[in-house]
Amino acid sequence: MSSNTTGTSASSHQVVENDYFGSNPPPKALPKHVAAAESFINHHAAAGRRVVLVTSGGTTVPLEKHTVRFIDNFSAGTRGATSAEYFLESGYAVIFLHRQFSLLPYSRHYSHSTDCFLDFLHENPDGSVVANPSHQDKMLRVLREYNAAKRQNLLLMLPFVTITDYLHELRAVAQLMRPLGPNGLLYLAAAVSDFFVPADRMSEHKIQSMDVTEILKQQGPTTQTTEPREVQQEEETFDNFDSSPAVPRSKRLIVDLDPVPKFLKNLVDGWAPEGMIVSFKLETDPAILVYKAKYSLERYQHHLVIGNLLSTRKWEVVFVAPGHKDRWIRVPISRRKKTLSGVEELVGAADRDSTSEADKPLDPATLPEGEPEIEIESLIIPAVEELHSKHIEVASSKK
Ligand code: PMT
Repeated sequence: MSSNTTGTSASSHQVVENDYFGSNPPPKALPKHVAAAESFINHHAAAGRRVVLVTSGGTTVPLEKHTVRFIDNFSAGTRGATSAEYFLESGYAVIFLHRQFSLLPYSRHYSHSTDCFLDFLHENPDGSVVANPSHQDKMLRVLREYNAAKRQNLLLMLPFVTITDYLHELRAVAQLMRPLGPNGLLYLAAAVSDFFVPADRMSEHKIQSMDVTEILKQQGPTTQTTEPREVQQEEETFDNFDSSPAVPRSKRLIVDLDPVPKFLKNLVDGWAPEGMIVSFKLETDPAILVYKAKYSLERYQHHLVIGNLLSTRKWEVVFVAPGHKDRWIRVPISRRKKTLSGVEELVGAADRDSTSEADKPLDPATLPEGEPEIEIESLIIPAVEELHSKHIEVASSKK
């Protein structure tokens, strides 16, 4: 029995894995996704191409099996969808494991609520629909890139919804990536829930705000056409906020969540042992970001943690990798896209060794061409690719 740095035995990870996957059923689409991923991976493995699994978007935590209510998080999938495009540009084949209805590579340019695609089009006198002249160039470029990725079978889209769907899909695809050896890259940008309701404690039907089944049972079948008196009274009491200063405990919904097991160790040691694994660390407090990123690397012994703050994630990230100095990647001030949620004053706040160098404009010759605003993923992906090349080099020198 081997031990890791946290002192837990390797087999305890296996027990937790068996228990979780045995008691939380897989999504219905899993066999179909596995078949598609297998043929995609084998095709690209035979061509010696690098394949990246990009995870993207948030995971839901259903409160009911017939789900009406669920807990969710903020992630729109911008990081994942944007990164997928730059990976394709760098020659990778991409498996895009994403939250259903979150942003997708290429179509993301036109599916933001602020960038409604209908505003980019107009009707010609002959009744045909065409792109506005000011959007022609970009639309043509995006359309060509999208069609090229499709034509060359370089992009496989696999959707998930819940945390359990995500984990089943992640495990299955990671295991299928083994034939790629070090050419496989796992880039885990999804915002994964830390807590969930286990299947055996989940309500079958919609959680009721009153015990209707009990009331119906007591009243019998004859009173079904009119509203039962007790129900009416309960609703009246509940609606009358003025006369009920504190909501009684019996009326509250108390949600009891279990922690989601951390499967990164299983991923590193068992599911995809030769691939390069990149995780993300999201924090809101600048004071702890780098510490948490380093802690994660130490704990799971993988290859790279990309740290980001919620409020500055579109402008800066930090790379924390074993044997490397922490590396901040920043979009220069003049090339940042302003966002409503971003807080520019916090750029640099998590960087304890910050020097004025960090915010000096980059040499324009090193910046991607095109729009004046730069997407930070256009800087992240080449840096990840560089580390991946080293990872492949080291692996092949050991053979
Ligand atoms: O979608 P956007 O709005 O663009 O936002 C992008 C982002 C902020 C969500 C992204 O950049 C990011 O930071 N994603 C990871 C956030 C997160 O869930 O961190 P974590 O500390 O909970 O998880 C650590 C890592 O392990 C993550 O890479 C996560 O994908 C992965 N993980 C975590 C738990 C779990 N059970 N399985 C996992 O794979």
